[in-house]
Amino acid sequence: MKSPAVVLERPSERVAANKKIASETTSQVSKSEFAFVIHTTDIKLLSIALNIPLLPYVPHSLLKKIFEWLPPFKCSNITGITSLTGRRIEGDLIFCPLLPEQIINLEQGFVLKKIIKAGEIAKKNGAKILGLGAYTAQVGKRGVLVAKGLNMPVTTGSSYTAAVTLDAIFEAARKMHIKLPESKVAIIGATGGIGKACSQIIASHIHHITLIARNQERLNNLAKSIYEENRSITVETATNISEKNISDCDIIIIVTNDPTLLINIKSLKIGAVVCDVSQPPNISKQDRELRKDILAIDGGIVKPYGDVDFNFYFGLPSGLAFACMAETMLLALEEKYESFSIGGNISTDKVMEISQLAAKHGFVLAELKSLGKPVLTEEIASVIKYIQATYSYA
Ligand SMILES: NC(=O)c1ccc[n+]([C@@H]2O[C@H](COP(=O)([O-])OP(=O)(O)OC[C@H]3O[C@@H](n4cnc5c(N)ncnc54)[C@H](OP(=O)(O)O)[C@@H]3O)[C@@H](O)[C@H]2O)c1
Repeated sequence: MKSPAVVLERPSERVAANKKIASETTSQVSKSEFAFVIHTTDIKLLSIALNIPLLPYVPHSLLKKIFEWLPPFKCSNITGITSLTGRRIEGDLIFCPLLPEQIINLEQGFVLKKIIKAGEIAKKNGAKILGLGAYTAQVGKRGVLVAKGLNMPVTTGSSYTAAVTLDAIFEAARKMHIKLPESKVAIIGATGGIGKACSQIIASHIHHITLIARNQERLNNLAKSIYEENRSITVETATNISEKNISDCDIIIIVTNDPTLLINIKSLKIGAVVCDVSQPPNISKQDRELRKDILAIDGGIVKPYGDVDFNFYFGLPSGLAFACMAETMLLALEEKYESFSIGGNISTDKVMEISQLAAKHGFVLAELKSLGKPVLTEEIASVIKYIQATYSYA
């Protein structure tokens, strides 16, 4: 099924909705069947969502202290989640006040307790499964200790994120006329949960794969398993993101848990497709705007079936969800209350299973986006024209 066109939402409308929800949530008992824990990866977005325009001007050290002290809270009720089967559910968004750097650097026991506290709010409101968003998914052995602490099913959304990333790559490659069987692909963050599943699945479609991460032993193990499954593929490994390792790749998938800017966009091949799934992204907005001759797409965005409203602005156009959120929604629609993607080791079987559930419930890849805006057919045509012009002058 083709996803419908997406209308960009104005932050002011979202703010008004957030205010309404915030006033209701304190007094109402929710009938939410699932909950999803979010935190902020971008203070500017949070200032819009919470309608605190001065938030980005608060000194960073003070903001970190406030976040440390502030307990998690329910920030919205997610409405309008519908399945193709006709089942309708609602869910909650629980805000866990922590920045990515705090999740990484603070004492892990403290961070785990805070996430469990968020889960307790969800459980109290009726949630039967809890999704962990962005960096909260990295904590407590990637969800295992959160599930144990709450005695409740937990998922990180990694399986569906891998599935949707691959859907987006296949779609982008088709639009850019990249012939997959002849293509060279680099996966940056290849040994992680999402990266490993993407590497294992895409390997059977391509000619050359470069696996990049910092730990050589894990890279060797993955390279060996990929080669054993696909004898005709060339597998390379690299422990750094140097120009040499990425400059001749047709497709680059970025899925690291490093919150810094890692990629030098200047070193990418003309005509390359780049999908940055990392949250926060590893390529800067400014850098992406510099290259008109590549297709840089946002990763892991889904159009759920129905008119889902998160009632909270987290940077996506209305009606769209990050794949990690969508995985929790799918499991709740299916009443499959189990810890689906935890522990960091995502199997290709789970990726296939969640793809089938998505098809059953009518969830699809959102139309391709770049920096949050739809990638228009004319834009792709102009990238292709630019590439052709460059090669004809070369
Ligand atoms: N859009 C969505 O819906 C969605 C959903 C879930 C997750 N995500 C995002 O996807 C990303 C990956 O998640 P994950 O669960 O797969 O993470 P993960 O399991 O922790 O894997 C991270 C990978 O990145 C590698 N890495 C870390 N720093 C690196 C660096 N400086 N250079 C090269 N490689 C590096 C790690 O290996 P080494 O440690 O050996 O380097 C590992 O292979 C995260 O940013 C997460 O927030 C997005």
